[in-house]
Amino acid sequence: MNIDPAEHSSTDNYKLLTNIVVPRPVAWVTSANADGVVNLAPFSFFNAVGSDPLIVMISVAHHDDGTLKDTGRNILANGEFVVNMVTAGLMAAMNVSAADFPAGESELHASGLHESPSVHVKVPRVAESLASMECRLHSTQDFGNYTLIFGEVVMFHVADHLVGDKLRIHGFNPVGRMGSPAYYCRTDDRFEVPRTTYAKWKNEQD
Ligand SMILES: Cc1cc2nc3c(=O)[nH]c(=O)nc-3n(C[C@H](O)[C@H](O)[C@H](O)COP(=O)(O)O)c2cc1C
Repeated sequence: MNIDPAEHSSTDNYKLLTNIVVPRPVAWVTSANADGVVNLAPFSFFNAVGSDPLIVMISVAHHDDGTLKDTGRNILANGEFVVNMVTAGLMAAMNVSAADFPAGESELHASGLHESPSVHVKVPRVAESLASMECRLHSTQDFGNYTLIFGEVVMFHVADHLVGDKLRIHGFNPVGRMGSPAYYCRTDDRFEVPRTTYAKWKNEQD
């Protein structure tokens, strides 16, 4: 079936895109407003997009009145945020943090979570998260209803028991976001496919 997005509403196109591009990692972002109130919200338009410099991106939607969600406003105002990763035990808290809390009320405390101080940025990380990345705002790109925010990772925090030899991460299974409205997947069912070369592949054809 061909589905031409030009013939469909933005709601339907959102549904198509977010049910096809799956699973998406979830950035659970801490940011802070001018009064230092810590804001926490999940973003699944999220990924790592470069490693030198280390760049991650989140895409923050605007409200119907055109204003940016609190996370976006905070990051643009003070240039800092932390991406905390979500594992299965944190799903209930993650879900609460996505609710439409008023701007001055911290989702982090309402979710029963705790703050841990960051090293290079003022915004704290979520103590319960097994992996977090302190980020400084690198650049932004506006398109339509979204502001794409690029952050440079200036510090990694990873639970000791996950870090193996040569900084290999073992046993880390963050959840993935599946289709709308509210499906997720676990990521502990993994398999290895060693990389090949053209010469090796060619040899195997004969
Ligand atoms: C799993 C999940 C992923 C989400 N991903 C995004 C996203 O990528 N972009 C976005 O603007 N909102 C996203 N949302 C909705 C925001 O988390 C929600 O609007 C939140 O209230 C924003 O909080 P804030 O205003 O404190 O920044 C997501 C919600 C959930 C539950």
